[in-house]
Amino acid sequence: MRNVYLDNDADLSILNGKTISVIGFGNQGSAQAQNLRDSGLEVIIGNIDDEYALRAKQMGFKVYSIREATEKGDIIMMLIPDEVQPDVYEHSIKDGLRPGKTLVFASGYNIHFGYIKPPNYVDVVMLAPRMIGSAVRSLYLKGSGAPALIAINRDFTGTALQTLLAIAKGIGSTRAGVIESTFEEETIIDLFSEQALAYGQLIKLAFEVLTEAGFDPVVVALELYASGEIVEISKAIVNHGLVNQLSLHSLTSQYGQLSRANIIFNEEIKKKMKNILEDIVSGNFAKEWYQEGRANYPTLNKLLEQAKKHPIVEYENMIHKKFKIYLL
Ligand code: NAI
Repeated sequence: MRNVYLDNDADLSILNGKTISVIGFGNQGSAQAQNLRDSGLEVIIGNIDDEYALRAKQMGFKVYSIREATEKGDIIMMLIPDEVQPDVYEHSIKDGLRPGKTLVFASGYNIHFGYIKPPNYVDVVMLAPRMIGSAVRSLYLKGSGAPALIAINRDFTGTALQTLLAIAKGIGSTRAGVIESTFEEETIIDLFSEQALAYGQLIKLAFEVLTEAGFDPVVVALELYASGEIVEISKAIVNHGLVNQLSLHSLTSQYGQLSRANIIFNEEIKKKMKNILEDIVSGNFAKEWYQEGRANYPTLNKLLEQAKKHPIVEYENMIHKKFKIYLL
């Protein structure tokens, strides 16, 4: 197994006197900036003039333009959407980088696909939490943290690993554990799991099958996910393992799951997954997504509009009005 680093392996004090510039105050930016500040580090925000900047100011952060924050910071954390990073880097970050600064990415995407090529006099590292931003924050507040992948693309200073581990400790990730990875590995696996394991799409298909067979949509939605059982099963999978958690289900359920598994989840699906993987590895998906971002997301907006018209949304709203289901 690769190296896994925990709190004891990281030393926050090497960041004393350094300024961390968090670029972006969205999902990851707001969570990581707050965690770093609560860990006693000096954090400033670089943001365009929008509602995220306002939120950061309201939360007591000093907010600068992205260019200014890059100049003021020793550590620059790129926490804006992947598809906008190349243009922002080119216009507002590149010229503010100085020898010995550290550029931190939360995804290997732009370095791996070559959309951003930092100068050879900065450290380029990756700290990629395996968790949505809100949970990066809530886990930190509970005294825990989000596991993360770490990688070093360039070690100009010779101290990139120590810096990276200290930042990982600052956001709480070494409380859970961070594992060595690479920019390439993180990018491919992350995109693949988003595209090939789209649980929501599977649930929608099952909803269609059952409602088209005449079953009540609210009862179906409750059964499939809306009761919250799905959260408990996910927790059991994480805590006990994919196979061991089976014992928490009835014998009928175990037999049904295992004996029918091959009917849907067979070689044909695996072949389709391999096609998805190929499309990612070749860079085709990244090219398409970059163009989509530059054109202001026309296809994404159309797909989102379509998704909102699915009948399941109407029944979800009914469930939210009638039931009192609070989770987490
Ligand atoms: P986000 O969508 O929440 O980012 C919003 C921020 O980006 C705001 O501060 C906004 O002002 C800024 N922004 C948006 N468009 C901009 C533009 N054109 N120019 C300048 N700034 C702009 O981003 P999110 O989801 O936090 O992702 C940030 C990074 O973290 C990405 O590299 C992503 O791959 C990575 N990541 C995200 C995870 C997640 O759960 N969302 C999980 C792990 C990694």
